[in-house]
Formats: sequence, structure tokens, C-alpha cells
Amino acid sequence: MSDQQPVIKCDSVYKIFGKNAEKMLQNANGKVVAEEFQKAGCVVGVNNASFEVNKGEMLVVMGLSGSGKSTLLRCISRLTDATAGNIYIEGEDLLALNSKELIELRRNKMGMVFQSFALLTP
Ligand SMILES: Nc1ncnc2c1ncn2[C@@H]1O[C@H](COP(=O)(O)OP(=O)(O)OP(=O)(O)O)[C@@H](O)[C@H]1O
Ligand SMILES: [Mg+2]
Repeated sequence: MSDQQPVIKCDSVYKIFGKNAEKMLQNANGKVVAEEFQKAGCVVGVNNASFEVNKGEMLVVMGLSGSGKSTLLRCISRLTDATAGNIYIEGEDLLALNSKELIELRRNKMGMVFQSFALLTP
């Protein structure tokens, strides 16, 4: 039943920046130690994020600067592609959407306000 599936579901989502990110992640077998990746020239943006957001729920992502909040949101909006893991929006596999479907999703189900876009600061 479509009403009962989560609005957002993240399943072991990783985002790792750097040249050999995918290869290193495969070799790590799911156990990512940020320091080790850093030594190899990679930056761990999101490390194994799994959660569900159901209809009527509000989720606030909190963390220190640089902890990966924006990177996680970019994965969920597919502004960037997660290195590994699955993301579902109302049951639809986000990574399987073509560009037309992605436009429809962004038009109808998603809104974004960028952190430092046109902010009026004194
Ligand atoms: N395009 C990129 N290339 C390489 N590293 C990146 C890139 N984008 C983000 N990072 C790194 O990923 C990590 C997470 O960054 P992110 O911007 O997601 O943090 P944040 O929690 O949103 O921080 P803030 O509270 O300052 O907005 C940081 O170490 C950042 O330097
Ligand atoms: Mg941010």
C-alpha cells in the first residue's frame, strides 16, 4: 500500500569523494574508517546512513560543520550520486530514475533552499 511505505528511505548510503572512492569502498566491505580513506586521498562525506521518514514525520539532520549534512541532502535530491547504497522516494528507486522522471520528482515532491543562496547578510 503506497500510504504505508516511507516517504524517504535511505539504505546504507555512502558518499565518498576522491579518485578511487568506489574501489576503496568495495575493499572496505562496509567498514569505512574516515582517517584511512583520507590517507588515500579520499574524503568521506556520508558514512553508512540508513533511515526512514514516514508520512507526517519531520526529520532534522544535525551535526557539526563538515559532518556531511549537505552531502546527505544532495544525495537524496540526486544533486550528487551516492557512491553506494539505495535511496527510495515513496518507494521509487531514486538512482534508477531517468532525467525526465527526476525532473518530475523535483517538480512535484521536493523543495530545496540553498544554504547561502541570496542570503541578505549585513
Ligand atoms: N565536492 C566535494 N569534494 C570533496 N569533498 C567534499 C565535497 N563536498 C563536500 N566535501 C567534504 O565532505 C564533508 C562533508 O561536507 P558537508 O558540506 O556535507 O558538511 P555539512 O555538515 O553540510 O557542513 P556545514 O554545517 O558547514 O554546512 C566535508 O569534509 C567536506 O569538505
Ligand atoms: Mg551544509
